[in-house]
Amino acid sequence: MGNPYKLGRTLLTEEEISQKVKELAEYINRDYPDGELLVVGILKGCFVFVSDLVRKLNADVKVHFIQVSSYGDGTVSSGKIQIKKDLDVDIAGKHVLLAEDIIDSGNTLSQLIPLLKERRPASVKVCTLLSKPSRRQVEFEADYTGFEIPDEFIVGYGLDCGEAYRQLPYIAVIES
Ligand code: IMP
Ligand code: MG
Repeated sequence: MGNPYKLGRTLLTEEEISQKVKELAEYINRDYPDGELLVVGILKGCFVFVSDLVRKLNADVKVHFIQVSSYGDGTVSSGKIQIKKDLDVDIAGKHVLLAEDIIDSGNTLSQLIPLLKERRPASVKVCTLLSKPSRRQVEFEADYTGFEIPDEFIVGYGLDCGEAYRQLPYIAVIES
């Protein structure tokens, strides 16, 4: 019983993550001191990050979620994205901050952003907790990046491996 993926070493502790979330929030607060800000989390991996981040923001924050699927369900993401669960608000004229857990190939965001821009938001920026720059298939850089990490599959703090380990308060490597 249980899941087949073995947890390896801790990559980022609870304290390191919480310090970084605080720093990211400071940058975002500087850029959006007031006014309405739609924080749009990209499900599911973002849910812990979004909940910690928004509690440190000063703007008039609204929280929304979108779910996007890439083909394949394991440790490799590939191909064209599909919106699985769309926003239930009109973002026209609004400032949107997309919140992502991790940018890997860059496919998700480089395809999602043009789709959202068709809806004429006032602006779209991206905040990601993690990024694996060495894995990019398309060039993509977030406006706010927490940690750049090496090419290892990680779990915890919302990130999963076959849906397991999302609840870990820290981030650890899966042993292969
Ligand atoms: P991208 O389109 O390749 O940038 O995909 C990003 C998505 O892949 C993230 O939102 C995660 O859901 C997933 N992903 C990429 N790397 C990891 C990882 O190391 N652990 C867990 N999920 C990951
Ligand atoms: Mg994700």
